[in-house]
Amino acid sequence: IPVDIFDIVVFGGTGDLALRKLMPSLFLRDHDGQIPDGSRILGVSRSDLSSADYVARLRAGLEQHLDQDDLDDGTWQRFSARIAHVRLDATKAEGWDGLVQDLKDGEDRSRVFYLATSPDLFGPICRNLKTAGVVTPKARVVLEKPIGRDLESACRINDEVGTVFNEDQIFRIDHYLGKETVQNLMALRFANSLFEPLWTSASIDHIQITVAETIGVGGRSGYYDRSGALRDMVQNHLLQLLCLVAMEPPVRLDKDSVRDEKLKVLQALRPIADGDVGVKTVSGQYRSGAVDGQAVPGYQDELNAEADGDAPESNTETFVVIKAEVENWRWAGVPFYLRTGKRLPKRSSEIIIQFRPVPHSIFEQGAGEVVANRLVIRLQPDEGVTLNLMTKDPGPGGLRLRPAPLNLSFAETFKVRYPDAYERLLMDVVRGNPTLFMRRDEVEAAWSWVEPILEGWQRGSERPKAYTAGTWGPSAAIALIERDGRTWHDDA
Ligand code: BG6
Repeated sequence: IPVDIFDIVVFGGTGDLALRKLMPSLFLRDHDGQIPDGSRILGVSRSDLSSADYVARLRAGLEQHLDQDDLDDGTWQRFSARIAHVRLDATKAEGWDGLVQDLKDGEDRSRVFYLATSPDLFGPICRNLKTAGVVTPKARVVLEKPIGRDLESACRINDEVGTVFNEDQIFRIDHYLGKETVQNLMALRFANSLFEPLWTSASIDHIQITVAETIGVGGRSGYYDRSGALRDMVQNHLLQLLCLVAMEPPVRLDKDSVRDEKLKVLQALRPIADGDVGVKTVSGQYRSGAVDGQAVPGYQDELNAEADGDAPESNTETFVVIKAEVENWRWAGVPFYLRTGKRLPKRSSEIIIQFRPVPHSIFEQGAGEVVANRLVIRLQPDEGVTLNLMTKDPGPGGLRLRPAPLNLSFAETFKVRYPDAYERLLMDVVRGNPTLFMRRDEVEAAWSWVEPILEGWQRGSERPKAYTAGTWGPSAAIALIERDGRTWHDDA
């Protein structure tokens, strides 16, 4: 879908997110012919870089993060000509003349301010944008997650940004919502009549949502150590996935209908506070181990290495499990087990819908166990959907049962390149479509649920439990689900 000519200004222009995700995504959109002639891309940072230096840095980033086949010369010529670097300390009110000058003659274009910075700077940057006079009616601001570090700071940031931009101009990004397979979840649920009648506590025993990563924190510990897995992944990505699985069918696929339904799910989450925190949550921190056959250091070792010696002992969790419950008619009694962590055995994001067993087995004992059906939605890698069914073991040897998968692999079926989430979301911002972005009330409702868990951990004197890198977290994570008579399906 074509978009109108636009200018995008990336604050944090030399940062990890800009180099790893934002610029490669804009490049790929240019490659596909979606960026209109004359559109400009400005990277803002405090570094003393010429635009040529900046372009060279972006080039190195693209070489590292894109397939060489995508990096063709024609697109590069076009793309690099759009780029400029603006040296600016955006937290100060003075020094904005260069940016004002660069944006001149673009007042009627879509203008995107992407704040790829720490959330403490969102308010000050927005204020300074206003003072500099660059907030036009078609201006939009993109806020990277996490918005704040608790409910109070999220509200403050939302208030501050809200004095400069109205809600329709504010795009709170959660890149999970831009992933093809996450959107596919809506297609699966609402474009098939098969699942909806079963999508209730009458047929579903429980749901597992896992976002497992093999990477550690190395290089990002400055941010991560103040954040931890609950703030970095659960408050946003995992809760958004939970919302998409659990929400009622929206009246239409528009921004408010979808977000209203997600909000209701967040509001229906049973609070986990005080004594429940120790029972319904587990936090962990990785120790040295091996992932994919490679020895890797522990989390504290990485902190020590970065501090050139001994860093203070960290209580930051790199792993979380939570037993969440959605208290409404559809989901009463159906736990949602959420799990995420770094340095786990494989990179895999999955939603598993575990159906209830058949009420009665007509098969003889020797026929084998009747395993309850399971729908596995694989978000990454190897995106697809698998429905585990029971079948008859082929052959003449009597009626023996065997589980077998009905497997849909998107890569094999559709044979297309999946765009990165940021490609889709950046173009949605330019178009002004906030459906796949978080509304203020959603972010605040998510913090309201997460905050008592953070407080419970702080009050309890327990540190996150140690787990060896390359394993599925501390044994307490397994005990949590086994207490309920269930198991994690790690090789679903
Ligand atoms: C980011 C987190 O939001 O998501 C990172 O800050 C995490 O810690 C990343 O690694 C995971 O995203 P993806 O798209 O690789 O699953």
